[in-house]
Amino acid sequence: VEGSKLERELTYQKETARRAREALAPVSHQVIERYSRCREWRYFEKEMVFHFIHEYAAARDRISICEFGCGDGINTCQVARVVSNADVCGLDISPELIGVAEDKVMANGVADRVKFIVGDVENDVLGADRFDIVLALNILHHVDIRKTVPKLMKAAKPGGMVVILEPIAYSETLQRLRDKAPVSKDVSPDERQLNEADVAYLLGAVSQPMVHYFNLFGRLSRLFPNRHTIDQGHSLTKVALKALRLVDLALFAVIPYSQRLSGRVVIVGYKPGPGHH
Ligand SMILES: C[S@@+](CC[C@H](N)C(=O)[O-])C[C@H]1O[C@@H](n2cnc3c(N)ncnc32)[C@H](O)[C@@H]1O
Repeated sequence: VEGSKLERELTYQKETARRAREALAPVSHQVIERYSRCREWRYFEKEMVFHFIHEYAAARDRISICEFGCGDGINTCQVARVVSNADVCGLDISPELIGVAEDKVMANGVADRVKFIVGDVENDVLGADRFDIVLALNILHHVDIRKTVPKLMKAAKPGGMVVILEPIAYSETLQRLRDKAPVSKDVSPDERQLNEADVAYLLGAVSQPMVHYFNLFGRLSRLFPNRHTIDQGHSLTKVALKALRLVDLALFAVIPYSQRLSGRVVIVGYKPGPGHH
């Protein structure tokens, strides 16, 4: 990453780390339950990520998982907690966030299976053929994907699975709307949603690519007061969230073109190798 961009990112993430440290707590049992079962994985993108991880992990004795751009380790900890046969590694450029991630792992009692590395995902930090699963969750839109994805593919073992979850904006109007929308946005200085060419590049980089779109009318959930408490048992919020996601799925099925207006994408693919060419 070029100098000034890196500095801006690191300064921003330092502040994120300070806030994350204040909120440091073990993964709640509702979250563990949700991502262990993934009962609504077709509706919620993160449940879909966990669904594919479970599917891959269930067919193997022990697996290794790496999260590119793990931030404060929230996903890394959740993965370690719900996938008991996994050794997990998290990589992030911010030493402060990795510091929080290390404390979070201790608080979750999974330190024996998790380790963290401070490093730039655009560089060759991890080497080759190391991980059964490589995750990129909300990270590729912060970096140069054409530099990062080759490193990500290299780090995966042959036949390994790659799972990507990122914000997208195919239409410039939508991109501008997001910039102007009167909702608080927690965004770092140089991030931008992936565009159509970026997604096409990602689909071309993996073998047997699958792509799922999320969050068209789902965006309206921003207006729900309790949308962040879905795991804490606000059942009405959950029903409303699911209803919006259901509308999206129905629309995508009837008018596939509408997927272009969605806000998030999950891409699953493999590194060519045994069983995957
Ligand atoms: C939006 S956060 C996502 C964190 C986590 N994956 C999640 O979903 O909660 C983006 C992360 O990317 C990290 N990051 C940005 N540029 C990076 C780079 N070049 N190498 C490694 N990490 C980077 C930031 O420090 C930040 O933690």
